[in-house]
Amino acid sequence: MNKDWLKTFEAELYGYLPSEDCSERRLIEAMKYSLEAGGKRVRPRLVLEFNKACGGDLQAALPFAAAVEMVHTYSLIHDDLPCMDDDDLRRGKPSNHKVFGEDIALLAGDALLTLAFTALTDDKTASLAGDSACRRAVAALSAYAGASGMVGGQVIDLISENKQVPIETIREIEYKKTACLIKAACELGCLSAGADADRVCAASRYGECLGIAFQIQDDILDCTSTDEELGKPVGSDVENQKSTFVSLLGIEKARETVNELTESAVEALRVFDGETDSLEEFARAMASRSN
Ligand code: IPE
Ligand code: IPE
Ligand code: MG
Ligand code: MG
Ligand code: MG
Repeated sequence: MNKDWLKTFEAELYGYLPSEDCSERRLIEAMKYSLEAGGKRVRPRLVLEFNKACGGDLQAALPFAAAVEMVHTYSLIHDDLPCMDDDDLRRGKPSNHKVFGEDIALLAGDALLTLAFTALTDDKTASLAGDSACRRAVAALSAYAGASGMVGGQVIDLISENKQVPIETIREIEYKKTACLIKAACELGCLSAGADADRVCAASRYGECLGIAFQIQDDILDCTSTDEELGKPVGSDVENQKSTFVSLLGIEKARETVNELTESAVEALRVFDGETDSLEEFARAMASRSN
């Protein structure tokens, strides 16, 4: 991926923010605060990588990438709220609710979620990606982010606090709360390029394996890293008595599983002929990431 992708992507992302010259200025400031705080931009990168692997046009993929990052950012704002993980640091800065209050943080999350669907369906996006790709992107993103996907995973995560749950439940948490949105990113990249069903399916498999590995690595880092390195509070899972792969099976077994899932993700790339070296490198880099 061309090094300038991040600049190009962020210009697209910030371009969707409404003007602050309005009565609800505080809301727009809160949305902007969390979007501009950065983060690794894993999901938009996956949209753009799969668009490229399918020979697509970057311009058509940018709104899809922005939409996925908006949904992700909303999920982080809500995840940090006192009624959820109650964490005060995010992306190296005070969490949204620490700056804007819980009421505005909640609403900034809501507004980012709906803005994602503006990005997927506005006239500019439809003219670049085509109506059919836009419709399929809305269907995929809303399903993966909703009750049977990310939101469902967050619920199972919350109701599994302070208990011993079986490995199947932990797998379901990791899959739904995190892998589903990563899968959506991979599929949307293919859809933005008008890819065939075989490729969408392979991208989906890559996203599922990478996404579960990504959450297990997040659980490992919660135990082994520092607040400075992660930009969020370590030890949050232990404090909230979360059920994670690490709490059930320990760090060594968790690391082994991350490596196995990474190999399965790489395997799924076979369907694409060429242009997938960077997706392979990316999966391996995510498995050994330190933040
Ligand atoms: C954090 O995601 C939440 C999880 C799903 C583990 P990221 O680790 O991608 O967060 P940012 O975007 O880099 O802040
Ligand atoms: C959150 O998982 C996943 C979502 C936000 C959907 P975590 O609660 O482990 O994420 P962090 O560690 O706070 O980033
Ligand atoms: Mg959480
Ligand atoms: Mg959390
Ligand atoms: Mg975590």
